[in-house]
Amino acid sequence: MASNNNSKIISDAHPHTVKKFELIETYIKSWAQKLMLTDSCSGIVFIDCMCNSGVYQDDDKNIVNGTPIRVAEALLDVARTYPDKQVHLFFNDNNADKIEELKKHLPEEERNYKIVTTVRDGNELLKWIGTQLKESSHMHFFLLYDPYDASIDWDALLPFFKNWGEVLINHMVSDSIRAISQVKKEETKKKYEGTYQVDSISDLVPYGSDKAAYEKRVLEIIDKMKGSATRKYYIATFPFFNTRNSLVYDLVHCTSHEKGFKLFKSTAWKTFGDKSSTKNRHGEENQLTFDFFGTGVFKPSVDEYCYDLNSIAIYLHENFRGKKDVPLSDVWAALDEHPVFPSDGYKNDLKQILKHDFGADISRKTITFSNGR
Ligand SMILES: C[S@@+](CC[C@H](N)C(=O)[O-])C[C@H]1O[C@@H](n2cnc3c(N)ncnc32)[C@H](O)[C@@H]1O
Repeated sequence: MASNNNSKIISDAHPHTVKKFELIETYIKSWAQKLMLTDSCSGIVFIDCMCNSGVYQDDDKNIVNGTPIRVAEALLDVARTYPDKQVHLFFNDNNADKIEELKKHLPEEERNYKIVTTVRDGNELLKWIGTQLKESSHMHFFLLYDPYDASIDWDALLPFFKNWGEVLINHMVSDSIRAISQVKKEETKKKYEGTYQVDSISDLVPYGSDKAAYEKRVLEIIDKMKGSATRKYYIATFPFFNTRNSLVYDLVHCTSHEKGFKLFKSTAWKTFGDKSSTKNRHGEENQLTFDFFGTGVFKPSVDEYCYDLNSIAIYLHENFRGKKDVPLSDVWAALDEHPVFPSDGYKNDLKQILKHDFGADISRKTITFSNGR
């Protein structure tokens, strides 16, 4: 979101941003339903610490709701379905007019459904909530950290990585690629040095416009934040492309819970229409390319910024090539570990592709993978 757009109370939401709203709303609905069914969870806390006004205008000039309104409405249903459990929402923005607008659209509070709206620095808010996380371990937290530029205050996020809960960060890669090579102001240099945890902005100059370098750096930082090297922690990154096919930002989902990781991946793929991003491949995904150094045959082309179900089938086929009677549980486990590929919601489709395009033999409990292709 460009900064002049950010200054508007009702800002523009282009199609990739509307997809972001849809993804978060759909995920939170399923995440909350699943958690409320567990005895150990006495409630959920959703925080959008940089929430905007909740109201946007799309490319066709229609008014669309942003994350806070969508999540508030979805979680009201959840609170009513589970009257013995608590739902707490924190919505914050440093722009008072945006919060005033948002308040007009939020549901009324109910006995087990509370909304706190604040106008302050989002990082300060997180540092304050962060001190109380340990005492609230019976509540499950979901933190959305969604600035309009590439500024990430890792100190504010640290308690959320260390404790139980999930963090979703918008990593505004396009801002870094555009600005870092020409940044002059000391204050702006400090912003990028903080975001990528480097001593000097000159350490970032070699990254140039290599988006993968910035993405890798963010994953390295999160890996340190999670603490003990042996702690199981799951990170899924999904890129968002605009209609000109440029990468705008990544949503980076972080959780210590495998079920949340799997659910987020499946929800993202469903939101993007059975792909891993909003990138438009203009039909390239249906063209076959010659694999000179591999099997020496034609294969569907794979784009690491926009995988599709064929890409998953290729991955499975290459992983298990020639193996007989592989239990289905092993096949799906290979996807469950994967940072982008889902299994839930796609098992039947994948079996069909493996059978018809890769010559696999599918039985009720196993798959025998062919040696060819
Ligand atoms: C990308 S928008 C948030 C969109 C919202 N999360 C959604 O999905 O509908 C970013 C918002 O962050 C606010 N913001 C930026 N830096 C902030 C900070 N340090 N503290 C609080 N709000 C901030 C801006 O005013 C802007 O409204």
